[in-house]
Amino acid sequence: MSAIMKVMLTDHAADAQWGDKALTSFNQNGVAIHLNGDEAERLRQIQRAGRRLDAQGIKQLALTGTEWDLERRYAFYQGFYNPRAGQSLYLGDMPAEEQKQLDSLLEATRWVRQITNGTPEEIYPQSLAEQAADFIARQAWEKVSFEIISGDALLEQGHVGIYQVGRGSVRAPVLLKLDFNPSGDAQAPVAACLVGKGITFDSGGYSLKSSDNMLPMKSDMGGAAMVSGALALAIRQGLNQRVQLFLCCAENLVSGHAFKLGDILTYRNGVSVEILNTDAEGRLVLADGLLCAADSGAKHILDAATLTGAAKMALGRDYHAVFSLDEARSQQLCHFAKAVNEKAWALPLEPWHLAQLTSSFAELGNVASAEGTAGATTAAAFLSRFVPADVDWMHMDLSASYQKNGNDLWAPGGKGHGVRTIARWLLEVTAK
Ligand code: BES
Ligand code: MN
Ligand code: ZN
Repeated sequence: MSAIMKVMLTDHAADAQWGDKALTSFNQNGVAIHLNGDEAERLRQIQRAGRRLDAQGIKQLALTGTEWDLERRYAFYQGFYNPRAGQSLYLGDMPAEEQKQLDSLLEATRWVRQITNGTPEEIYPQSLAEQAADFIARQAWEKVSFEIISGDALLEQGHVGIYQVGRGSVRAPVLLKLDFNPSGDAQAPVAACLVGKGITFDSGGYSLKSSDNMLPMKSDMGGAAMVSGALALAIRQGLNQRVQLFLCCAENLVSGHAFKLGDILTYRNGVSVEILNTDAEGRLVLADGLLCAADSGAKHILDAATLTGAAKMALGRDYHAVFSLDEARSQQLCHFAKAVNEKAWALPLEPWHLAQLTSSFAELGNVASAEGTAGATTAAAFLSRFVPADVDWMHMDLSASYQKNGNDLWAPGGKGHGVRTIARWLLEVTAK
């Protein structure tokens, strides 16, 4: 007898003995997943069944039958995934083109989940930058080049945010600058840029987090992982325009060499920022990345970051928060998400929000202190100060990239959710 459990899909309800409206039932052939409702609901049911089968301890599965398609296989994979090794999942036979698309999705998603779940000991600024560059370069060796700027060199080149946030750690902060240039022409215009927050551990700094809030903070590089996975995926999906990627990597720690409250950072665009809270570090490092993106001349810039607990409070762990100064653009990004079966929701951002980041000693404070200000929105407003007005800039606050505890759909840890949306955005905005 084979030790592999077969998984099939059916539109028929389960026999009554499996309970009312049972999601799964077992028979001599394997397990059946009982589907109903519209396709979006069915995909959730499939993902939930995958999650349940993993939770049951079933290690070897094979998808069988003709009801499976690419989205359904991917949904099952996402639910069945477990950060602990030891699973084997055969996704079934499918046409070569579909197999190729599925492989691209799985590789990108798996990489994002694995890197996000990596311990702070494994994933520190330098190793994050190296692994991201290696993963992207593997998709197209001859078209990718990169540079890693580290430690004091950051300060010499004016990347004050990454330097100051990272200076408290013995592990040097780094900026990864990566260029995907498919034409090979060094003069080719840069069509779009991606910027990612790569805080490999966020203790909060001197505005120290509680132990409970600190525990998941190995995942504070989820934005860097997400944009890297998205670029790799877009390349595999046929991206043919020049794109640059900037990862802002640092460990936010407490030490005799750490930055402090009251410090003032002066960025290379002249903006001065008073540190009112060292735990609002993401925006400080992203500012450097956004300035680099602006230098490239790209007309489209997207940054992704686990930037605020406020976004998570607003949307839970299901949706990513999307911001743009152009409402139509944020709606468009939400539509891209929907088209690839991911979830994103627009939150408000207007030019006047910037005025809520007040400081008595500098142009801006790094947090808003007045009553009634919106945490995720003022974080986005801070970033807007580092983006040229004529650029189509999108900010994603990744509320749905990681969860400490598993639930009915997701294993604990990184989810890879959002990588398809960003890949789609890249392909759409660079399409000629
Ligand atoms: N990395 C956190 C945001 C975060 C918190 C992401 C929980 C995911 C889960 C970020 O650096 C942070 O600490 N933000 C502060 C900002 C505040 C000091 C204005 C926050 O949200 O509490
Ligand atoms: Mn923080
Ligand atoms: Zn953080």
